[in-house]
Amino acid sequence: MQRITVAIDGPSGSGKSSVSKEAARRLNAAYLDTGAMYRAVTWHALDAGTDLADAAAVTAAVKAAELFISTDPDVERITIHGTDVTEAIREPFVSAAVSAVATNLQARAELVARQRAIINEHERIVAEGRDITTVVAPDADARILLTASEEARLRRRGLQLGGTQSAAELEAQVLARDAKDSTVVNFQVAADGVVTVDSSELDFEQTVATVLEAIKAQA
Ligand code: C5P
Repeated sequence: MQRITVAIDGPSGSGKSSVSKEAARRLNAAYLDTGAMYRAVTWHALDAGTDLADAAAVTAAVKAAELFISTDPDVERITIHGTDVTEAIREPFVSAAVSAVATNLQARAELVARQRAIINEHERIVAEGRDITTVVAPDADARILLTASEEARLRRRGLQLGGTQSAAELEAQVLARDAKDSTVVNFQVAADGVVTVDSSELDFEQTVATVLEAIKAQA
C-alpha cells in the first residue's frame, strides 16, 4: 500500500480527535493523538509535584519522560513511566494545566521530535494536534485545518463532558485554553497549502467524508 502521512490541526471541540481517528481507520492507517502526549507529560508533572511555572524543571521532566502511546486507532492507550494514564489525562485538572506545558518552547521541541519519530516509523499515519500541519509534519501528503464555530465547539465539548458544566466553565475550558495555546501555535488560520474544513454545519459522518475527500484531493 502507498505511504501516506496526513496532518490534521484544529482548536478544541472541533471534533478533530474523533474525526482523525475514523479517517485513520478508513485509510487503514495508524493514528497519533499528539494532544494526549502533552496531557500525559502534564499529568506526570502534576503528579510529581513539579512547579509548572518552572520552565527548566518542566523541560527536564519532559526530556526524561518514558512515554508510550498506542498508534492503533482502535486501541486508546498512553503510559508514562509505566503508569497507564489513558483515562486520567482527560480529567479537567489536566485540561486546565496543559497549556502551561504546551507554551514551554523547550518542552514543545522535545515532544515535536518524538512525534516526528513516531510519524516516520509508520508507512501510513494520520497525526492530529495544533502544529502538525505547520511544525511537526509540514511536508505531509495531506494537511487539513478542521475548524468549527465557537458555538458549535462549546456545544460539542459540553455534550462530551455529559452536559454537567455551566456555560462559564465550558468557556473557561475551551476558549481560555485555545487563547493560551494560540500564543505559541497558530491553529486558527490555515497556513499556506493547508485545506480548511469547517464542520460547524456538518454531522460526524459528513465531516469524516469531507476530510477524506480533502485528503484524496491532496495526496
Ligand atoms: O487536543 P487536546 O485538547 O487533547 O490537546 C491538549 C493540549 O495539548 C492543547 O490544549 C495544547 O495545549 C496542547 N497541544 C499542543 N500541540 C499539539 C497538540 C496539543 O500544544 N500538537
